[in-house]
Amino acid sequence: MKKVIKNGTIVTATDTYKGDILIENGVISQIGASLQVQDAEVINADGHYVFPGGIDPHTHLEMPFGGTVTKDDFETGTIAAAFGGTTTVIDFCITNKGEPLKKAIGEWHAKSKDKAVIDYGFHLMIGEINDDVLTELPSVIDDEGITSFKVFMAYKNVLQADDETLFQTLVQAKKLGALVMVHAENGDVIDYLVKKALAEGKTEPIYHALTRPSEIEGEATGRAAVFTGLANSQLYVVHVTCAEAVEKIAEARNKGIDIWGETCPQYLVLDQSYLEKPNFEGAKYVWSPPLREKWHQDVLWNALKSGQLQTVGSDQCSFDFKGQKDLGINDFSKIPNGGPIIEDRFSILFSEGVKKGRITLNQFVDVTSTRAAKLFGLYPKKGTIAVGGDADIVIFDPNVERTISAETHHMAVDYSAFEGMKVTGEPVSVLSRGEWVIQEKKFVGKLGAGEYLKRAKYGEMKENKEINSLSL
Ligand code: URP
Ligand code: ZN
Ligand code: ZN
Ligand code: ZN
Repeated sequence: MKKVIKNGTIVTATDTYKGDILIENGVISQIGASLQVQDAEVINADGHYVFPGGIDPHTHLEMPFGGTVTKDDFETGTIAAAFGGTTTVIDFCITNKGEPLKKAIGEWHAKSKDKAVIDYGFHLMIGEINDDVLTELPSVIDDEGITSFKVFMAYKNVLQADDETLFQTLVQAKKLGALVMVHAENGDVIDYLVKKALAEGKTEPIYHALTRPSEIEGEATGRAAVFTGLANSQLYVVHVTCAEAVEKIAEARNKGIDIWGETCPQYLVLDQSYLEKPNFEGAKYVWSPPLREKWHQDVLWNALKSGQLQTVGSDQCSFDFKGQKDLGINDFSKIPNGGPIIEDRFSILFSEGVKKGRITLNQFVDVTSTRAAKLFGLYPKKGTIAVGGDADIVIFDPNVERTISAETHHMAVDYSAFEGMKVTGEPVSVLSRGEWVIQEKKFVGKLGAGEYLKRAKYGEMKENKEINSLSL
């Protein structure tokens, strides 16, 4: 059945206007003032914002990591994402050295296929480059539509790749049309600092932060940027946390290097002091890179505002406090890294960003949806509200006030990193390709309804001949 969303305030990365949206066969077929439509379900969005569905370009669902597996899978993770206003996730497919890339991709399809309630794609981790990998890469792009490769510069002896691998990945990505993503920290220096701290009997969560200083995030970011320039390639730096890294990105952009930066809500609103909470509570706030001193937050907000950073991902990587985080009770280096954010990304950005005047409403849409769609080959099918695009839509109440809590969130974990935080604004209803996923704050979607997204090559737009220019 057709649907028409009436009287809402439509917000894209460039425009804010009152209008009605007609949805047919999962696609936006018309936008206009006071649309008169027969035989359509009418959705009244009066007093609400109508946003393009959020695109979360950074998730780790059901990922083996730190001696355990992330708690939220493609079922709980995508349901929570939808409650939070996200209609597309791009998850990291983790490969193992010496094994075919296809094997890991097959595993990721198996985990997601009958579970995801919203659309999803994969990035592919590259841990080594050899003849087998080189032979497989073209089909990763052409057959799987995976057009972004992830290289870890940290997690020594686990996920970390060496500089040669990073450089070769950049060269291949340029040749094939992929965007390289990096986790930028100097894993070798961290390894030394961690061993030294533990030898000195420093075992508490705070030492996780103290052994990963911001300078070495800056160093790794700068190194990756230099390689990108030399390879004439393209780079996306995930989870930027600090002034040093922002500086390196800005410097490279000023030199004309094709480099993009993502930050995450946790780095915008939490700080290093959280790792000092008593009774091992600090473990809840163990991310890599770590939370920083508070003053870095202003740098990150300003970088989003000025466009030096362009996206906000969640880095959803959730572990229970009891039974998972406590693997590191006697040794901070064994605390699984990561936290539950997928549900809160949109609301925190709106409340702390738009409501507090740090970014505009249109910038909010850009950093939570549109820019990721453009960088990761989904635009304009996704990431905006335009005729011909998928009807991935969030109806958002900008005035409701609520408190974030593990008691009420939909992620599968036993704590919230934002427990007690007051936010203004909440997604009320969410459509994925025109179908209800969340209706008046209730989940009404279907497991397996999410489709796997084959993405366009870097810099190329998905064919969409019907798209009109209204909000491009
Ligand atoms: O602590 C984090 N960020 N965990 C997830 C893995 C990663 O490095 O992105
Ligand atoms: Zn990372
Ligand atoms: Zn991550
Ligand atoms: Zn309402």
